[in-house]
Formats: sequence, C-alpha cells, structure tokens
Amino acid sequence: MSDSSMAVSSSGSCLSTDSSKVDERRDGEEAETVKVPPPPPTEKLLVLGGNGFIGSHVCKEAVDRGLSVASLSRSGRSSIQDSWASKVTWHQGDLLSLGSWEDALNGVTSVISCVGGLGSNSHMYNINGTANVNAIKAAFEKGVKRFVYISAASAGIERKVFLSHFMLPGYYEGKRAAETELLAKFPNGGVVLRPGFIYGTRRVGSMKLPLGVIGSPLDTILRHAKPLRKLPLVGALFNPLLNITSVANAALRAAIDPVFPPGVIDLDGIHHYSQEKF
Ligand SMILES: NC(=O)c1ccc[n+]([C@@H]2O[C@H](COP(=O)([O-])OP(=O)(O)OC[C@H]3O[C@@H](n4cnc5c(N)ncnc54)[C@H](OP(=O)(O)O)[C@@H]3O)[C@@H](O)[C@H]2O)c1
Repeated sequence: MSDSSMAVSSSGSCLSTDSSKVDERRDGEEAETVKVPPPPPTEKLLVLGGNGFIGSHVCKEAVDRGLSVASLSRSGRSSIQDSWASKVTWHQGDLLSLGSWEDALNGVTSVISCVGGLGSNSHMYNINGTANVNAIKAAFEKGVKRFVYISAASAGIERKVFLSHFMLPGYYEGKRAAETELLAKFPNGGVVLRPGFIYGTRRVGSMKLPLGVIGSPLDTILRHAKPLRKLPLVGALFNPLLNITSVANAALRAAIDPVFPPGVIDLDGIHHYSQEKF
C-alpha cells in the first residue's frame, strides 16, 4: 500500500505535489513533504491456527499487505520473533471449547482456518472436523463475509480409499465434514483449498527445517508430469507439491478478493491463483 504525499507550506496551507500546482506557492515560502498515513484497513482478518506452519505464513503475507490481522490458537502468541509477528493480535482459545473464544470474531470480515492435524482417529476427526465446524458456525453467526478452510487433497481415488478406510479415516472424514458445513453456511464466500504436500521452512521449536531443499526441485519435475497423474494406482504419486508461499497467497486472495470463486480449489487451482497479482 503506497503512502500519498503532499507539500505543506510554512504557513500551514497544503500544496499538491502535482508539478503544475506547486508554483502556486508564494515566493520565499519553503515546502516540506509530509507523509499522509494510509487509511485504516477495512478488512479485518482472523487466522485460526496462525502460529502453525501454514498459519504463520498466512499471517506474515497478510501483515505485509497492510491488513489488520489476528490469530487464534490454543497456545496463543507465536514464539516467532520476526517483526511481522508483533503486528498480529494473538488470541488464545480452543475451538473445541465453545463459549471461550467467539469474541475474537467481533468485527472480523474474513477468516482463514489453518486448524487441523494428525493423531488418533477421534483426535483427527475433532481437530480437522468438529473444531472447524464450530468455527464456521460461529463465524456465520457473527456475520463474517468470507471463510477459507485449508483442507487436504484427495490424492487419487485408489489412495483416497486406502487412506480413508485403513489409515486416516478420522482425518478425511473430519476434513469433509468441515467442507460440507462451510459450503452450506457460506455458499458465496466459502472457499476450500485442497493442497497436497506443502514445502517451505517449518519451525520446530527454535529450529528451522528447510523442506524446500527437497520440495522445490521435486515440484519442478512433477509439474511436467501431469499425464502420469492419470495412471491407475500410482497416479497420485505424481501430484505436484506446493510452495508454502503459494498456499498462503492463494488463501489470502480467497479471503479478501470479493470475486474469488467460492467452492473447492484443487492443487492446480491453488497454484494458478497464487501466481496472479491481486
Ligand atoms: N503441512 C502440509 O503439508 C499440509 C498439507 C495439506 C493439508 N494441510 C492441512 O493444513 C492445515 C494446517 O497444517 P499445518 O501444517 O500448518 O499444521 P500445524 O503447523 O500443526 O498448525 C495447526 C494449527 O492449529 C492450531 N490448533 C490445533 N488445534 C486447535 C484447537 N482445538 N483450537 C484452536 N487452534 C488449534 C495449532 O495451534 P495450537 O497447538 O497452539 O492450538 C496450530 O496453530 C491442517 O488442516 C492440515 O491438515 C497441511
């Protein structure tokens, strides 16, 4: 967001910086440039899970764009020391514990939920499904305009059946429960992003894991392997990976661009929208 500027004469009268008008200044009067601050942001963004891997990148991108940004998570303030983190309002609250966090939605225009994760089946259903369903219902009640949910790619029918029936039923059932609630409550402003593997720098305590060292070159190769994604059984292995900045940008755009299409956005869609300037 760029600052506008105007010249103020020593007598206090304002002079435009338009060169055709500067000459209106009286002889001998000196002009100094005063920065006029940008108008206060009208968009107020709440990132659920803003201290996690994806959430922290979303918060950083949103702060860089001059948005008013808040985060809500069980642990509250992020341990990240970067300057953008001091510009985020950090709320503490558990989405599974109703009645303790809903005030964080007051005045919020857009929500991006990055809450989810792995664990036991019941935990995965709760954190990916119930926690997000609670958030979607509360945001709807509070009159939030747009809601973006970070879900997960199905990754091909064979792998989906394998994962959902034998390995991660709670994860996928929870994701789909949240998606269904979102599209019902926010038919015009609800966006589901379904990324696959996301690479970028992940913080584990005070350590930074540069997953991009592997992810970036692999992504370049997989992006040219589109026909292989149709292969039976192994096709999902050729799904492209996504850079964390692409996912954060696509989520941010979905949250604040009123013409971003509602509905489910897959891997290629996320990549596409993250490339466009907005
Ligand atoms: N990383 C990937 O490669 C990838 C790929 C595809 C999809 N996804 C999906 O993207 C989402 C975010 O992934 P991530 O890697 O960023 O996960 P993450 O780093 O573990 O972040 C999860 C966030 O959710 C918060 N959280 C968890 N339970 C909560 C609750 N009950 N109430 C409030 N906040 C809660 C956590 O903070 P607290 O612990 O402080 O509460 C944390 O900020 C997940 O849904 C994941 O399934 C990730």
